[in-house]
Amino acid sequence: MPRFSLTTPIYYVNARPHLGHAYTTIVGDAFARWHRLNGDDVHFLTGTDEHGLKIQQAADAAGVSPQAFTDSIAPLFADAWTRLDISYDDFIRTTEERHKRGVARLLQACYEAGDIELDTYSGLYCVACEAYFTEEELEGGNCPVHKRPVERVEEENWFFRLSRFADRLLDWYAKHPGCITPSYRMNEVTSFIKQGLRDFSISRKSLAWGIPIPWDPEQVTYVWFDALANYITAVGYGNDDGAFVRNWPVSVHLIGKDIIRFHCIYWPAMLMSAGIEPPQHWAVGGWLLVGGEKMSKTTGNVVDPLDLIDDFGVDGFRYYVLSDTQYGNDGDFTYEGLVSRYNSDLANNLGNLAARVATVVQKKCNGVGTAPRADSPLSDIARQAVADSTAAWNSFQPAKALEATWSLIHATNAFLENHEPWKAEPSAELNGIMGDALEALRIVAILCVPAMPRTAQILWQRIGLDGDVSAHRLPNSVSWGQYPAGHGVEKGNPLFPRKSL
Ligand code: ME8
Ligand code: MG
Repeated sequence: MPRFSLTTPIYYVNARPHLGHAYTTIVGDAFARWHRLNGDDVHFLTGTDEHGLKIQQAADAAGVSPQAFTDSIAPLFADAWTRLDISYDDFIRTTEERHKRGVARLLQACYEAGDIELDTYSGLYCVACEAYFTEEELEGGNCPVHKRPVERVEEENWFFRLSRFADRLLDWYAKHPGCITPSYRMNEVTSFIKQGLRDFSISRKSLAWGIPIPWDPEQVTYVWFDALANYITAVGYGNDDGAFVRNWPVSVHLIGKDIIRFHCIYWPAMLMSAGIEPPQHWAVGGWLLVGGEKMSKTTGNVVDPLDLIDDFGVDGFRYYVLSDTQYGNDGDFTYEGLVSRYNSDLANNLGNLAARVATVVQKKCNGVGTAPRADSPLSDIARQAVADSTAAWNSFQPAKALEATWSLIHATNAFLENHEPWKAEPSAELNGIMGDALEALRIVAILCVPAMPRTAQILWQRIGLDGDVSAHRLPNSVSWGQYPAGHGVEKGNPLFPRKSL
């Protein structure tokens, strides 16, 4: 079985999960489910980033120890992912022992390679980013991401000699074209490297909340060095070498555009220093904006995803975030946009198609599904929908994949409107028309598994099919003509009741 491993960023536990975190995690889940549907051996990793000054400050503000604080917040992420049907295979917390062991091993490897040295640094620090900025990078004296003042910080720290890696990184990227998508992100990364790289501090003296530097326990590890290592510590590095060899390099890191430099410059350089292969792919997503601003805990304009699933169902919400924004671009979250997409694509198209097919089968075919025709006009459309959605899922474009899936739904609705089977008398032709529509719904159910696993299963059962829809492997499962006649078709409640604003 081909292996496919993917990761989300590990989220800071300074507050509860918001829509932006849910977005990246749902995208990851859809890719994981897509690859399982294709028979790949999938490993989907997510988790929480629990050390550093930002968490220490949040714990101080809450009046509890950082460990107690993170212990109270990390489960909120795990619970949110459970409620959103996120099928992660592993959830790593950076406060776990397996992670601390792996970080110590990685630090030691980079130190022994001669890439970690003592130095003094003075710079402008944004606590929300846990990163330094240069004067030129600031906007009106503020952090360009969080629009908040930065602090001047000066310490004697251990530094990672990133400056030595510019040529090695450029060589590596030249040999791996297309490994960062969208491609303009690759250009950003390489032109940033070409401007010259500065060493970065990987330890903190003034902070206690972190992983001690193995050879200098007076200092703790910089939170980003610690956090990036999660991708290897979770799959065996520092703990189980055999597992690590099987599980690395990762197939793809999903990241937001705010953390490109850490993931595409620091991280591969850290790995190269330790003699570990870089990741195979980075798929960079944009931001979900609210009123034109990045939704963020620091900015305070957060939307709680769990409120939305009460109103729109898990799948309604998942469908919205996957289909409404091309992954890579920024998207604007609006309640109106959510209602309108839900009504048009789910209530009026998918929901309506399922309901009208069941109604006609009940009235004109004694409630029993009929066989599709080999030469149905829908068969080519289905083939194209499968090909286009396959290409889109495989290139990290969920919105395009769903658009391709919906082209089959639209075509099937148009096909029924054209034939008006609800007006016809029972006949062999009517049976054929309804068999075609049922077969289209069968294929739609399978193609909906990555985005809407619950809906896919309900649809599958309503057209009379047994077992678990997600157990049917592409590409064989979606070739035209397999809907078996003779099963009871059920109408049931509306899949997606219409919403008003
Ligand atoms: O940066 N729109 O954690 P974080 C879309 N711990 N995606 C968003 C988003 C928004 N408004 N807000 C957050 C960190 N995200 C580090 C990562 S990884 C080794 C360490 C998503 O809690 C997006 O993917 O700030 C972003 O990169 C990630 O959450 C950062 O979450
Ligand atoms: Mg952030």
